[in-house]
Amino acid sequence: MKYGIIGGSGLTKFRDLKIEHREIVKTPYGEASAPLIHGRFGDVELVFLPRHGSGHRLPPHSINYRANIWAMKELGIREVIGIATVGGISSPPNALVIPDQIIDYTWGREQTFFDGVDGHVSHIDFTEPYCESLRLKLITAATSSGSNVITEGVYGATQGPRLETAAEIRRMRQDGCDLVGMTAMPEASLAREAGLCYATCALVVNWAAGIGDEGPISQQLINQYIEQGMESVRQLIFKLEG
Ligand code: HPA
Repeated sequence: MKYGIIGGSGLTKFRDLKIEHREIVKTPYGEASAPLIHGRFGDVELVFLPRHGSGHRLPPHSINYRANIWAMKELGIREVIGIATVGGISSPPNALVIPDQIIDYTWGREQTFFDGVDGHVSHIDFTEPYCESLRLKLITAATSSGSNVITEGVYGATQGPRLETAAEIRRMRQDGCDLVGMTAMPEASLAREAGLCYATCALVVNWAAGIGDEGPISQQLINQYIEQGMESVRQLIFKLEG
């Protein structure tokens, strides 16, 4: 089984991926963030797509989520893993979390394949936004790679690209969010609309705004956590069931 991996900040390049070939996939929604890379990481066969484009040039609200998911589907991928760096509301920096729920605070993004243009309207069930079988595979792989993984959590998806205010994070905490990030939506719901099995592997790279007493969020500190944590994410991918 080939996995689709959509890499986020910190996973724009996939070090040690044995690249087989690159493929530009045309979709009715335009171009995906980058050519899709077919490759092998240990025994794991995968198709890798850097969400923010090669060289990290696309901010979260400008990503063509529809083209990215369509391209995965077009290549016959059935399981897609979204890698995300997030702020922690209840989990500390460095934690690896496999979320089980989402609250969507994004706006103005192209968020559906069912926009009625072709006369086809459909309402997907999204009670459980993530695919449980893939979540379990991620948890198993994380555990066998030695990570202390947190097996559930609510991902609050914000619009960005700015980070949140302290009051926004207080509200999100009251809403029940454990994590805050900018890319889970509409990636997760489009995957469901496309009939793909989708789950997120989230790496906490900072305390969310106003949490803890660290003052302003430092990009330098975020980069340090990304560097350390992405190694755990790579180990997790290495251990995925082939
Ligand atoms: N907020 C939103 N997105 C993020 C954060 C954050 O604090 N950290 C990493 N991605």
